[in-house]
Amino acid sequence: MPIRTALTRAFGLEYPVVSAPMAQVSGGRLAAAVSGAGGLGLVGGGYGDPDWLRTELAVVRSETERPWGVGLITWHATRETVELALSYEPSAFMLSFGDPRPYVPAIKEAGCALILQVQSVEDARAAAEAGADFIVAQGTEAGGHGADARSTLPLVPAAVDAVSPTPVLAAGGIADGRGLAAALMLGAEGALVGTRFYASAESSGHERAKERLVGASGGDTRRTRVFDVVRGQGWPEPYTGRALVNPFLERWDGREDDLIAALDDEARAFREASASGDFDTAMVWSGEGTDLIRDVPAAAALLRRMGEEAEDRLRSARGFLGEDSEKAR
Ligand SMILES: Cc1cc2nc3c(=O)[nH]c(=O)nc-3n(C[C@H](O)[C@H](O)[C@H](O)COP(=O)(O)O)c2cc1C
Repeated sequence: MPIRTALTRAFGLEYPVVSAPMAQVSGGRLAAAVSGAGGLGLVGGGYGDPDWLRTELAVVRSETERPWGVGLITWHATRETVELALSYEPSAFMLSFGDPRPYVPAIKEAGCALILQVQSVEDARAAAEAGADFIVAQGTEAGGHGADARSTLPLVPAAVDAVSPTPVLAAGGIADGRGLAAALMLGAEGALVGTRFYASAESSGHERAKERLVGASGGDTRRTRVFDVVRGQGWPEPYTGRALVNPFLERWDGREDDLIAALDDEARAFREASASGDFDTAMVWSGEGTDLIRDVPAAAALLRRMGEEAEDRLRSARGFLGEDSEKAR
């Protein structure tokens, strides 16, 4: 029996899973693969580069007839990039990291579902007031940017209680069907999954970065500003990014002022390392769920595996009750 939630009903999905809008990783191919297989695929518009957006939004639009969406980093968004993304007629628009209110009217007028990602219960309430159709409660376990704050397990039910009846999605550390089933048990209507889809065939991530994700554990990740400093990205408080620890991070973590002093040389070396796929220097954003990543499958197969495992878990969960309790172990 398929899982049905407010998320699956809103977009006609087979599985209550949204693939995260990961900058430079979630291009049109990945979003289309996820949407085509019955999830909701989001293109990671990131900092809003117009050429990249045009290319990737054209790809997703041509490769799937099912609903798909796009995400932008709110503090870096402009009316122009929001309008550009809307011109490709996405079904969902996700904004993360900053005050979304300037962009809400345009998104609503376009008939697009508004998804707002938050890291605290207070911001979940503000997102509901701003008119979110779905709120993503992102725990600190998440890969990429987020806050050094709340964990997914207690944050999700607290956000659900705070914003009901607005539906909440869980994000941060969800990488298989067990995590998806657990998110539903916490009261979420689905999960937003990032790092696990990074290590999929259609993601635009570098193959060597995907290999590192397969080999890493959650203990190899850390929240840091080092990669923003070296890229000259002025992320506001309270946001940091969770990445795999590598020699570059070990060298500069806690020494950000020294890195700023050496920025000319370091930024050039960093750009070269990123271009050549040298991940001893370049970053691999990763969440704590990376222990559960053991292969780099096609996104459709990954989604099905995750969805079917969650269905199995939910079916067998009644075994925890009463006389069936031995069967669920
Ligand atoms: C490689 C990578 C890039 C990301 N880029 C963005 C981004 O551009 N915009 C955004 O809203 N979230 C971004 N995120 C965070 C995701 O939206 C999401 O919260 C996170 O991936 C969920 O945790 P998980 O990685 O453990 O699944 C990124 C995450 C990763 C792993």
